Amino acid sequence: MQIIKVLKIKILTIIGARPQIIKAAAVSRAVRSRFSDRIEEKILHTGQHYDAGMSQVFFDELELPHPDFNLNAGSGKHGEQTAKMIAGIENVLLSEHFDGVILYGDTNSTLAGAVAASKLHVPVYHIEAGLRSFNMSMPEEINRVVCDQLSTVLFAPTVTAVENLKREGFADSKARFADGRGHSVVNLGDVMYDNSMYFASKAESKSDVMKRLDLQPDKYILATIHRDNNTDVPERLTSIIRALVEISKSKPQYKIVLPLHPRTAKLLPQNVDSRVYEEFNNCRNIICTPPVSFFDIIVLERNAALVLTDSGGVQKEAYFYEKPCVIMRPETEWVEIVNAGAGILADADTQRIIDAVDELLSKSIEYPKVFGDSRASEHILQYILDCRN
Ligand code: UD1
Ligand code: UDP
Repeated sequence: MQIIKVLKIKILTIIGARPQIIKAAAVSRAVRSRFSDRIEEKILHTGQHYDAGMSQVFFDELELPHPDFNLNAGSGKHGEQTAKMIAGIENVLLSEHFDGVILYGDTNSTLAGAVAASKLHVPVYHIEAGLRSFNMSMPEEINRVVCDQLSTVLFAPTVTAVENLKREGFADSKARFADGRGHSVVNLGDVMYDNSMYFASKAESKSDVMKRLDLQPDKYILATIHRDNNTDVPERLTSIIRALVEISKSKPQYKIVLPLHPRTAKLLPQNVDSRVYEEFNNCRNIICTPPVSFFDIIVLERNAALVLTDSGGVQKEAYFYEKPCVIMRPETEWVEIVNAGAGILADADTQRIIDAVDELLSKSIEYPKVFGDSRASEHILQYILDCRN
């Protein structure tokens, strides 16, 4: 009898910020359930996010294994923070052999992983490649453009992301790269959609957030704000908070639930006009909370009448759960949501936000399936294995 030896590859997953921990949980789950005989995964946490509610809670809930490496990079100026991460990732990649690194999204942790790995000729697998806002004032856009250039396989989650890359000269290809050089662009779906479908019913049974915050389904609006050009610019943050105050006054039948990112919690008192801030604090139907867990946010998204956000992930999850979404940004990378009529770009403009809420609450919306088949993680891992054969 002939014995076929299955070669196992070793992958380093690099995460650091909240949404990356969540995305990595989907892929890591697929490694453990379907590919454990062919893929060994180690996890590196840069430490970009470190509060328990921004990091540990997701490891616990989403059953992501404890990181094998933690760089404890923490917060800091962009260069300072990214440099610490690059140095730490480089040391790990020099200390043991990896057949590739998996990176997610567009944060400084993503950029650091791409720079460190590509300089050491370790193949870079970029999940959520090809997204573009075409706004180079966003730190994330800089990270995306650089990271995509340094990536070996670019896993684009949407047709638009593939088109963006083609326009930048990448070939749309199913070609295999055995040597880790060159680029390959492929759309196998969105790993966030995997998670949102996988955890929806578990979240409903585990989370007590509706009771805890005294909420009724369809009787509240879920809001999140954390984008730097909203939190750090006083006029913009004031304009957004003024919109929330106005909506809470004109629509008392809705509560507004606002889980606060630590960046926003820190900057609200100093950047919002003092009179608007006082009114905001006095609005009894605006509920501010610390950041909530993934199960809590799923339940909040699924039961909301509408979502108001500047988050990339929350925008998409609203769509997955067929909820209308006001996007408090001048543009979005997730143009499918706006094209479907399920999202309206309102920037940080008080009146546009109010008008968009009115419009979305009063119309019926279709949500075409554009984010894959909720098995993107498995397809991606199979693709990585095929590249190696
Ligand atoms: C980062 C990403 C952004 C992503 C977001 C997800 C970059 C450039 N930005 O933005 O793309 O959408 O994560 O949430 O990588 N802080 C804490 N505790 C924490 C983490 C942060 O207090 O656990 C505070 C610190 O004051 C810190 C600030 O939040 O300076 C900003 O954190 P940082 O990681 O630099 O950027 P985010 O705004 O979180
Ligand atoms: N999220 C969460 N708790 C919160 C707010 C967001 O678990 O209080 C989750 C959300 O469901 C999504 C991810 O965090 O999966 C989005 O992260 P964030 O908004 O911080 O960043 P972005 O997606 O904009 O990069």
